[in-house]
Amino acid sequence: MHGVPSLHELTVSSARSAASELLGGDVRRWAHVQAVARKAAEAARALGPAESELLVLTAWLHDIGYAEPLMGTGFHSLDGAQWLRQQGHERVACLVAHHSCASFEAALRGLSEVMATYPDEGTSVRDLLTYCDMTTGPAGQAMTMDERLADVRKRYGSDGVVTHALQAAREELLRQLTAAERLLADAQPM
Ligand SMILES: [Fe+2]
Repeated sequence: MHGVPSLHELTVSSARSAASELLGGDVRRWAHVQAVARKAAEAARALGPAESELLVLTAWLHDIGYAEPLMGTGFHSLDGAQWLRQQGHERVACLVAHHSCASFEAALRGLSEVMATYPDEGTSVRDLLTYCDMTTGPAGQAMTMDERLADVRKRYGSDGVVTHALQAAREELLRQLTAAERLLADAQPM
């Protein structure tokens, strides 16, 4: 595909570069991604070294599917996952596919079968990634999850598929956020 960077060696730095190349032109979205990655770098203290690097690099890549050259299904979680799978990064692909309970939106978009090809690992990395994304607003501002849900409703309308999906996912989102907050409370402060 023309204009699509490849991502052979996967590190925090290469993830940041790829994200910057693909999303850096969208000022607002890039501010969101940078803020989620910053939050992930702080939250990473709750994990061991290998998992903490995975959390941070996945945070850089979690919204990569919004980049136009990666568009496939039209659902960013799956389009980002598909690109990461093509690059050979299966675990990150699955984390990106499922960030912030994306399976609910996939179902509403008729994409459950595609989603099913990406197992949800259901780990602390998954919970912390959802926490970082769901407590960061679209321009990178800090938000509670309920503020974030209200903001989505405002931006996409009460009948929007994203609004419906997040409403349906609310309980599961809360479960993941609570698990993440517990991990952070038990972890040493930075
Ligand atoms: Fe995000």
